[in-house]
Amino acid sequence: MNDIANIEANILDKIKDCTDLKSLEDIRISVLGKKGILTENMKTLAQMEEQQRIETAKKLNILKSHIEEALGLQKNILQERALNEQLNNERIDVTLPIRPEIQGRIHPVSKIYEEVVAIFGALGFEVANGPDIEDQFHNFNALNMPLNHPARQMQDTFYINHDATVPFDMEKAYVVRTHTSGMQIRTMEKKRPPIRIIAPGRTYRSDFDATHTPMFHQVEGLVIDKTTTLAHLKGCLYDFVKAFFELDEIPVRYRPSYFPFTEPSAEMDIGCLKTKTELKIGAGNDWLEILGCGMVHPNVLKAGGIDPDEYQGFAFGVGLDRLAMLKYGIPDLRTFFESDIRWLKNYGFAPLDFSSLTGGLSNNGGQTR
Ligand code: DAH
Repeated sequence: MNDIANIEANILDKIKDCTDLKSLEDIRISVLGKKGILTENMKTLAQMEEQQRIETAKKLNILKSHIEEALGLQKNILQERALNEQLNNERIDVTLPIRPEIQGRIHPVSKIYEEVVAIFGALGFEVANGPDIEDQFHNFNALNMPLNHPARQMQDTFYINHDATVPFDMEKAYVVRTHTSGMQIRTMEKKRPPIRIIAPGRTYRSDFDATHTPMFHQVEGLVIDKTTTLAHLKGCLYDFVKAFFELDEIPVRYRPSYFPFTEPSAEMDIGCLKTKTELKIGAGNDWLEILGCGMVHPNVLKAGGIDPDEYQGFAFGVGLDRLAMLKYGIPDLRTFFESDIRWLKNYGFAPLDFSSLTGGLSNNGGQTR
């Protein structure tokens, strides 16, 4: 009897003092395992007298249940302690910044797009969007370029079969738009004058070198009213280039040119200084062509359903990518579309720096790059 009481006191102490789960398991095996103290004691029951066997078995069973209870309790305590320790060691400070800090950049073309929309928006222009895949009526015919017009050859057009079940028909084929000028017609079809829109978007031509890519971006401008004149065109475009290059003064000149959809037509140049390493816009007397423009041809107004005897207007077309190259000193257009993350890191812009005339076009608080 004494024996059993001793065993109990001894084992319960050991269990209470145990500080880790592995030792606790060792204790369990040493008591309840196949060769454990309690198991060995159970084996002695067989040799006992009946009365003694019954009493001893009872005591041993009580002892067993006490030990199992103590083991269970201690196991819970140790498990909780281990979990708390782990939680303490693996604590995460969710307020720390991510490492490495990765921030996306705005592509220069998107930036220029925003800048151009901000400038013309302030001048009261609306933005008009149209399809990349265009019919020849809107891309050519309605712009005073009927089939076989020599100007069509200037544009290196990508044609798309209009109906996959019949042989290619040049006259009916669609095109991926070669310029945004088709938006002049789409706007006139939907809106009555006064009209004041810009149409920025993707354009496509079969051409590839340092300053040409098969896909590029243009902005078309169109103003139509009863008394819109060449003077308005000049004033509007002068305001645009000043705002765009963020200069108070900038030399400009207009050279006579030819576009089928304007009469008269002109190209606008800006004054700049070209050194071997750098291009300074607004300085010196070298001239740099920047856009095409003119007074909307009467045939174009007619094609858009507007009476040329009552209305007149001006139009212009600018290459967005070219503007980005000039303003941000990017030498090769092909790199714009290579998706090189290093290039974007260098030439891209911080995502939260919105372009506005009041808050700064390219540089808000000096944090743009
Ligand atoms: N569509 C012309 C081009 O792609 C650019 C252009 C020139 C647009 C003169 C115009 C304009 O609206 O008046 O080269």
